[in-house]
Amino acid sequence: MSSQIDHLLNENRKFAPSESFAANAIGTVGLYEHARADREAFWAQQARDLHWHKPFTEVLDWSTPPFAKWFDDGELNVAYNCLDRHVEAGNGDRVALLWEGEPGDERRITYAELTDEVKRLANVLTGLGIGQGDRVAIYLPMIPEAVASMLAVARLGAIHSVVFGGFSADSLRSRIDDAGAKLVITADGGYRKGKVSALKPAVDMALADRNGSGAQESVEHVLVVKRGENDVDWTEGRDLWWHDVVPAASKDHEAQAFPAENPLFILYTSGTTGKPKGILHTSGGYLTQATFTNKVVHDLHPETDVYWCTADIGWVTGHSYVTYGPLANGATQVLFEGTPDSPHPGRWWELVEKYGVTILYTAPTAIRSFMKLGRAIPNKFDLSSLRLLGSVGEPINPEAWMWYREIIGNNLAPIVDTWWQTETGAIMISALPGVTETKPGSAQVPVPGISIDVVNEDGSHVGNGNGGLLVVTEPWPAMLRGIWGDPERFVETYWEKFHAQGFYFAGDGARLDDDGDVWFLGRVDDVMNVSGHRLSTTEIESAIVGHDATAEAAVVGASDETTGQAVVAFVIIKQSYLDAHTPEGLGHSIRSWVGEQIGPIARPRDVYIVNELPKTRSGKIMRRLLRDVAEGREVGDTTTLADTAVMSVISAQVK
Ligand code: WT7
Repeated sequence: MSSQIDHLLNENRKFAPSESFAANAIGTVGLYEHARADREAFWAQQARDLHWHKPFTEVLDWSTPPFAKWFDDGELNVAYNCLDRHVEAGNGDRVALLWEGEPGDERRITYAELTDEVKRLANVLTGLGIGQGDRVAIYLPMIPEAVASMLAVARLGAIHSVVFGGFSADSLRSRIDDAGAKLVITADGGYRKGKVSALKPAVDMALADRNGSGAQESVEHVLVVKRGENDVDWTEGRDLWWHDVVPAASKDHEAQAFPAENPLFILYTSGTTGKPKGILHTSGGYLTQATFTNKVVHDLHPETDVYWCTADIGWVTGHSYVTYGPLANGATQVLFEGTPDSPHPGRWWELVEKYGVTILYTAPTAIRSFMKLGRAIPNKFDLSSLRLLGSVGEPINPEAWMWYREIIGNNLAPIVDTWWQTETGAIMISALPGVTETKPGSAQVPVPGISIDVVNEDGSHVGNGNGGLLVVTEPWPAMLRGIWGDPERFVETYWEKFHAQGFYFAGDGARLDDDGDVWFLGRVDDVMNVSGHRLSTTEIESAIVGHDATAEAAVVGASDETTGQAVVAFVIIKQSYLDAHTPEGLGHSIRSWVGEQIGPIARPRDVYIVNELPKTRSGKIMRRLLRDVAEGREVGDTTTLADTAVMSVISAQVK
């Protein structure tokens, strides 16, 4: 890490926007000026680009921080903004989704068709008793029905909780229970790397016998899309096939207006404790910022661009930059079910060529994997349609940034490195293409209307050239409105640290360079970032401790060339287990166990069996020292350990 930081400090390349790009860019210097002159008027203007059934007169109510209300007396329908209004404006024939399934099957869905589908589905959901404020869990592959489901729930003023299809039955169950979902929308299965990966069985497991957990069964129905054609069990009365009920439903459905602060979705993300947090977002402010940033940061021209954000809808990027931002902007976008390397490692580039993608938004981990495979693969395809490249999810190292620019962007397409979080709802820090000079490795500047700072532990500005903690200093439209069912945790996690200043604490370390631009240095808490996905050390530790053989576990995020960070576990095995078994194969068994408990993305890269863990006298595990071992560095200062010899024992065991 420290060598990486040194490396970053020496990075000083800059790329000015080309004249031709700047001439047609949507972003302007004027946006910054307007926002600086009157932040609230600026956001009000962006909000008025949406359709309001009842216009707002109030912009921001910050009278009870940290509980913000934006556009509070206004009313809108989020789905109407993403669908009907485009049809009514005469753009019903524009393609909304250029969908490609993993096996190569295709569907082109226009705005008119998607609107009809969502209206039918909204009627079905109403029939199933779903109305304003009800929670609906969505556990689907990347198929058009996933986008339609989110929009139909939004259309009814209900709340969706999308659960990534790669999460286990256990993870799904805890999310369903926490939100008290009434309905689950799923599929029999989806395609992944040439095979059908089943989903419905996980839903069945999640809803089966609660093992005395005491949780009340909230789910009344399961709506199932046929996609994988795999055999599934069926619970009569509870389960319904999508193809039986949706096409048969009426396509007449008038969108009702809901208050701007009506909840739109809950999305679970890992925090520093074992229990994922249900991040709550509402309607008007969220849609305003998602739509605005998608337009100016991605320079989206809906009439001419073909946009592709590669994120799954199970993550916030898929919410804001697949479903809500692009559809509210009336964009034509690629939606892809598969993975980058199946059936061949050029699959993404083949799609860029086939659909003439002009804007590509993806994660550094993908870029680094392609970089490792070599330029010969993308060079086989015509990528000349690409005119803007985006990056999101983790810091992008200058090497990967330059490779992205040269090999994918033909040295022409500007790169926007966008920093934000599940909690921020939309992009907060990024260059504006055509306006900002870009720098490989730096996320750079707050977008117009956003105020951030890098501060010391006491909340004072660090000044250019220094590192500290990233904070947001003013409320923003897409900010989280809370943690579902846990207002105290919301205040504690984000607002207590800089309570005196009223700053939002993001949990990221950052540095300001001599120009005042932001460089991200990774998380400062017990949260890891693996392939752009947020994982909690504590959550994985508690999963490992649930394995029969383990007595104790410590997990760290160690830097990894491809995935940014990788999960590394140090595990103490129970003596009783060792008395009866050989430790052979235990590492493997613990890895798979974590995969079953949380999901494959949480599986440790390495499992080290050790006798002891480094602890302070008060019993706190010193993960910093374990990270040194996991990254093959000399172990740092051990003087605060209860037993200073323990690290040499661990280092020897790991070798
Ligand atoms: C964490 C948020 C934003 C949607 C996807 C991840 C890290 C995100 C960047 C970036 C450096 C980044 C931060 C942040 N992160 N984007 N451009 N540069 N770090 O959302 O799962 O909520 O994770 O991802 O550490 O706190 P998330």
